[in-house]
Amino acid sequence: MAMDDPADTGESYATLALFQPPTAHKDLFADALARALGKIESLVPKFGLRNPRMGIQGTLAYEFCTDDEWVASFWTGQLWLAYALTGNERLKNSARARRPYFRRVLENPAWHDHDLGFLFLLSCVADFKLTGDKDARAMALRAADFLAARWRQPMPFVMCWNPMLRDEPKFRERKTRTLNIDSLQGMSLLYWAHRETGQPSFREIANMHNETAIRHLVRDDFSSFHAVEFNPATGAAIKGYTHQGLNDGSCWSRGQAWAIHGLAQSFLNTGIAVYRDTAARMADYVSERLPDDGVPLWDYDLPEDRRAFRDSSAGAVTAAGVYALAQGFESGPEVGKYTELGDRILSGLVRHCDIAGIDGAEGLLKEGAAFVELGRADNLLPYGDYYYLEALMRAVGHTEFFW
Ligand code: GLY
Repeated sequence: MAMDDPADTGESYATLALFQPPTAHKDLFADALARALGKIESLVPKFGLRNPRMGIQGTLAYEFCTDDEWVASFWTGQLWLAYALTGNERLKNSARARRPYFRRVLENPAWHDHDLGFLFLLSCVADFKLTGDKDARAMALRAADFLAARWRQPMPFVMCWNPMLRDEPKFRERKTRTLNIDSLQGMSLLYWAHRETGQPSFREIANMHNETAIRHLVRDDFSSFHAVEFNPATGAAIKGYTHQGLNDGSCWSRGQAWAIHGLAQSFLNTGIAVYRDTAARMADYVSERLPDDGVPLWDYDLPEDRRAFRDSSAGAVTAAGVYALAQGFESGPEVGKYTELGDRILSGLVRHCDIAGIDGAEGLLKEGAAFVELGRADNLLPYGDYYYLEALMRAVGHTEFFW
């Protein structure tokens, strides 16, 4: 059931075999998916060639990306998923019309960081998987080369962030020796490049990165640090810290989500059990700390006296990740356990944060928290929208994505 050759089999993507058994919320999710697809189709002429960046606070409208934005591919990813489901050529054309942006990313080394994974999986890998386009494949392989080349020995991971002149000097220096949890999403680009080329180093570097993350970003109770700094001379880990969470010892909910989804997906890419089992224990941690309505707050250690902003994007990434985890277990009690957890989070999002049915709304989910300590909360977020669409698709049984 390859996603890239439905034409060969006479099947459309929408009719391919589905993994999940019907869930208790099947109708709720199928309706939400139909609403999401309607919204995406309606936004194509409105957005034109612009890529949503972040919601304008107090509205259901987006501001748009300029150059060098890590979020630039999430609308493209929604277009490709919607095209896979509907076969609507307008969606494909709109997604592909963004290729010059991604070409400029390749041509600008200063823009290269771990986000190459998000950027190229949801644009060029998606295009290649769905249409077989050779130029898209070549561009994604170049991106994978750049990502793999960010390994700075003896530190056992690919460098995540780049130092920027605008950074406060201590953080600027720290960034050059930091592993962050967001980067686990990008490992799928390296596994994909390994499958395409047979070059073992792609897979070896991704495995090294994942193993370092499990050892140093994941705590004994299966919560996580946002980031860990290393000694660049010895490669030894020094200290976990946060950039976007509440404090160094807390568990930032979107960071936890990046790891659950990334490790579950790395298991699906490699069959290495420790990736799946670590993601499962991290999901158990989330399950114990979710509010009754199923939508995570922006940090799992938020004290009562702090304003309890939700992060719908953390919910969407976690839901998509635990459905992938259920798929990874294939059979046994874990399939039901993690499907149920995905359902709990996703039904919370559908009931409390879904804005796809609202006329004029420019996205799928409200109440995302990009960076609370900088005042960026209660926003539309393009990654919240992308992973919400992916989670809804997984909830009704789809298993083929671009990771
Ligand atoms: N990767 C940045 C974030 O999650 O906000």
